[in-house]
Amino acid sequence: MQTNTPERRRITPSVLYPGTPVVLMTTLNDDGSTNISPLSSFWALDDRVVLGIGTQGQGCHNLLARRECVLNFPGSHQAAQVEAIARATGRTPVPDAKQAMGYVHVGDKFALGGFTAIASRQVGPATIAECPLQVEVTLLATHRPSGAGDAHFVIAEGEVRCVHAHDAITIAGTQHIDVQRWQPLIYLFRHYLGVSAPLARNFRAETPASAAT
Ligand SMILES: Cc1cc2nc3c(=O)[nH]c(=O)nc-3n(C[C@H](O)[C@H](O)[C@H](O)COP(=O)(O)O)c2cc1C
Repeated sequence: MQTNTPERRRITPSVLYPGTPVVLMTTLNDDGSTNISPLSSFWALDDRVVLGIGTQGQGCHNLLARRECVLNFPGSHQAAQVEAIARATGRTPVPDAKQAMGYVHVGDKFALGGFTAIASRQVGPATIAECPLQVEVTLLATHRPSGAGDAHFVIAEGEVRCVHAHDAITIAGTQHIDVQRWQPLIYLFRHYLGVSAPLARNFRAETPASAAT
């Protein structure tokens, strides 16, 4: 039998980030200001979202305390703004483990990243005006990773309360996102990438084929 199987080898990558969107999670600090936490451990299905969040960050503390957040999705043109806040933590004092990684405390990440805070509709934390896709979320449950007694992260399940999108990435007069104009920022093995032009279309897609598909 003829086979055409690519050569492969076993590897032990330091992280397993094959490519998910960057999410800027906003949460309310104890003093009522809004913190921004860059995340990439995210997926969504129906009206539920799931996040993986490190317990040493301010965002985790805020989310567990107030059970609300906004998931702000930056576009690929905003990679520099995301990286500008990447070393910052809203937590003070900075935990030793984060300090060893090079994190520093910054109270106002909106100013640091050049972002604008606007009021959210159904939750307390502010929304990032410049992010084209904004999802307000209420926390439903948290889960500690099984079998990891000293786990340094939690798995959080949230319910989508409402979604806002910039007009520029929606198809006018519909509830749909225009996949040719929405250019998410992808986090891929700790590098930032954009996405290509549409390649093909699923049989259940509700929007018309683009020129390419
Ligand atoms: C692009 C990007 C993706 C990240 N993804 C995650 C993630 O999925 N989960 C997580 O806990 N931290 C993630 N981090 C690290 C957090 O941003 C970092 O812990 C930061 O301190 C969070 O801010 P905070 O302490 O103010 O909440 C990511 C960082 C960057 C720049």
